[in-house]
Amino acid sequence: MAQAIQTGTAHFAANKIVVVNGPNLGRLGVREPDVYGHQDLKQLRQLCVAWAKEYGFEVDVRQSDDEAEVIGWMHQAVDRRTPVVLNPAAFTHYSYGLRDAAVQVTDAGLPLMEVHISNPAGRESFRRLSVISPIATGTITGMGFYGYKLAIESIAVLIQASQQA
Ligand code: DQA
Repeated sequence: MAQAIQTGTAHFAANKIVVVNGPNLGRLGVREPDVYGHQDLKQLRQLCVAWAKEYGFEVDVRQSDDEAEVIGWMHQAVDRRTPVVLNPAAFTHYSYGLRDAAVQVTDAGLPLMEVHISNPAGRESFRRLSVISPIATGTITGMGFYGYKLAIESIAVLIQASQQA
């Protein structure tokens, strides 16, 4: 059982972050490299581990094409009090099931940073709607894999701010 950091009303599983990637992100590197780049999920995982370490976090990087599994990971984050970096992939645009799970994370006082490798606002019109953004703590788009680093850093900043509050 992870030790918890207790800070006023907010508390977090000590030094843990979960990075959750939705459907087709297991195909990074081969899927539309002009949009998503040439690096694969394994490389993204290695980068996230290194970036998280810079901020003193252990990171668990997951990917699933299965909506139920991704929803289950949101429930687990709430129960374990783990901050979340979420790239909901195509679920972004239509999954009220994932939205209803993700809002439980932010309602529990945990940061949930939405990340997109590409900039969906500059692509097909169906990508302009995110059902996740309104309930996310923040959203980072269009920065490639680096967006995950910014999301991890944002979580570090938010936790630090809550500890000083
Ligand atoms: C994505 C953008 C989504 O529109 C798309 O369905 C994805 C990836 C991104 O990371 O840019 O699968 O979330």
